[in-house]
Amino acid sequence: MVNLHIDPAFDDAERRRRLFGGDVLVYTHVPEVAAFAAYTREMITELFAPHDPLSIQTVHSPEQLADMLIEFKPRWIHDPRSMDHVRAIARALGCEPAKIHADVPKLRTAFPQGGLSTGIAYAFQVHRDTWYSAPKQQINWWMPVWPVEADNIMEFYPRGFGNVIENNSGDYNYYQANMWRSNIKEFSGGKDTRVHPAPVKPLDADEPRLTVVPPVGGIMLFSGDQLHASVPNTTKATRYSIDFRTVDRADVLSGAGAPIADVASLGTSLRDFHRLTDGEPLDESEIAPYDTADAEGVRVFVPYHHE
Ligand SMILES: [Fe+2]
Repeated sequence: MVNLHIDPAFDDAERRRRLFGGDVLVYTHVPEVAAFAAYTREMITELFAPHDPLSIQTVHSPEQLADMLIEFKPRWIHDPRSMDHVRAIARALGCEPAKIHADVPKLRTAFPQGGLSTGIAYAFQVHRDTWYSAPKQQINWWMPVWPVEADNIMEFYPRGFGNVIENNSGDYNYYQANMWRSNIKEFSGGKDTRVHPAPVKPLDADEPRLTVVPPVGGIMLFSGDQLHASVPNTTKATRYSIDFRTVDRADVLSGAGAPIADVASLGTSLRDFHRLTDGEPLDESEIAPYDTADAEGVRVFVPYHHE
C-alpha cells in the first residue's frame, strides 16, 4: 500500500517515517523550488540559445547533445548556487540543515524516444536506488524544471515497495561505478555497457504503476527503496528534471530506514553525502556499518561526470 500525500503538514520526523513506510509526498507550491527551477531554466536556455531547449533534439545530433551535456551538467552541479537552492528547499520544508546530509543535485534530461538515452542521458529501467548502493535512509527529492507530462516523467511500481523482486544488484559495486563515471563519454554512444541493476525477470505488463506529475514549483519526495523507472519519453518535448538525495544523520546512527528487502549491492554511496550547513561528510565510523568489506575501487568520487 502506497499512500500519496499532497501538501501534508507532517513535521520532518513524521515525514521520514511515512517515506520509509513507502508513502510518496508532493508539495505543490514551494517558492524555493520554483526559484531552483527558474535558475536552472535560465542556465539551460543560455546553453542552447537561440534554440528552444524543449525541442533541442531537433537541432543537434545525439553526439552533439552528449558533448554539450557532458560539459554543462558538471558545471551546473558544482555551481555553488545549486547547493544553495538545495539547502533553501530543505529548510523551507522543515528540515534542520545541521542534521541533514545531501548529495549534489543532478540534472536529468530525457529526450523523446529515439534520441540520446545512454551515458550522460541514461534512461533508467526499473530499479531501486538502493540496488545502486544508496543507503536505506535515503530520501529522493524530484522536481520538474519545465512542465512535465505523465508520458515523459518517472513512474513507481507501488507493489514492489518492501517486497522481494529478484534482481542482479549483487553484480553492482559502487566503487567500481565511481570509476566508470569518470569516463561517462565512453558510455554515451550507441551502447551503455555499465552494470545497471534490474529485475531478473521483466515485470508483468499489467503490473500496477503510479505516475505522479508535480507542477513546476512543486517537488516530490520518496524513499530511495521505491521501485521506479524512467517513463520512455513518447512526447515531442525533452524533459528536464532535478533530483537530489538526503539522509538525516540520526537515521544513519539509529539504523532507521526503508525495508531494503532485496538489496545485494556492494559498497555504499554514504560518502557522497555532506552536511548542509558546512559540507562535512559523515564519519567513517558512522559509514562502516553500511559498507561491505569486499567492495573495491574508488570510495570517494568527485562527480565531475555524474549522469
Ligand atoms: Fe532512481
